[in-house]
Amino acid sequence: MKGLFITFEGPDGSGKTTQIALLSEYLKDRGGKVLTTVEPGGTELGKEIRNILLDRKNKDMSPIAETLLFQASRAELVSKVISPALESGATVICDRFFDSTIVYQGIGRGLGMERIIELSLWATGGLVPDLTFLMQLEAGLGDQRISNSLRERDRIEMEEKRFRKNINKGYLKLAKKFKERIIPVDAGMGIEEVFNFIKKKVDSKMDIK
Ligand code: TYD
Repeated sequence: MKGLFITFEGPDGSGKTTQIALLSEYLKDRGGKVLTTVEPGGTELGKEIRNILLDRKNKDMSPIAETLLFQASRAELVSKVISPALESGATVICDRFFDSTIVYQGIGRGLGMERIIELSLWATGGLVPDLTFLMQLEAGLGDQRISNSLRERDRIEMEEKRFRKNINKGYLKLAKKFKERIIPVDAGMGIEEVFNFIKKKVDSKMDIK
């Protein structure tokens, strides 16, 4: 039986990484096969593309070039990693997927939501997540979490401050459009509370499948 495909979305600093690690452990403890991966990245080619995308020296990259690089990384990740794992029955958990492009490039950069949806489906060969957790955070809190960490801001984080409001609104618009798939999560709750919420949703989806 094909595995479940779960993605996590939300602004930088919203706790996606922590929740993905917890969910992966939980599913493995129950005896399931789990693969976690990340966008952009997840393959050799994807890592090279990620470096280009996040490098501050590319600050003048055009929005269309940026979009196509994200899609190229995604096409590679789906065909080489995600689809084979799902076919083998594993649950795949991906840190960001095409909803990021729809929101950051489609809405944030103003390239248009519908166009990016179409392009994304082409890049993934029609693969759509079964479940998407949208980690929602007040605009200031993510910034604070990033500033508290020691690393330097990457190219997109540097710019994100400018279009953060649009990103939050964009994600909400998307969650309304794909109600059956996208689940908003209040990421301001404690780690454990957030995880319990996520766990329940995953359990019930697995029962249905
Ligand atoms: P990353 O360091 O992975 O951020 P995070 O830890 O928040 O996931 O950097 C990815 C950045 O790229 C992030 O700011 C969101 C952005 N992004 C897009 O603009 N479009 C996309 O399609 C994806 C996948 C990410």
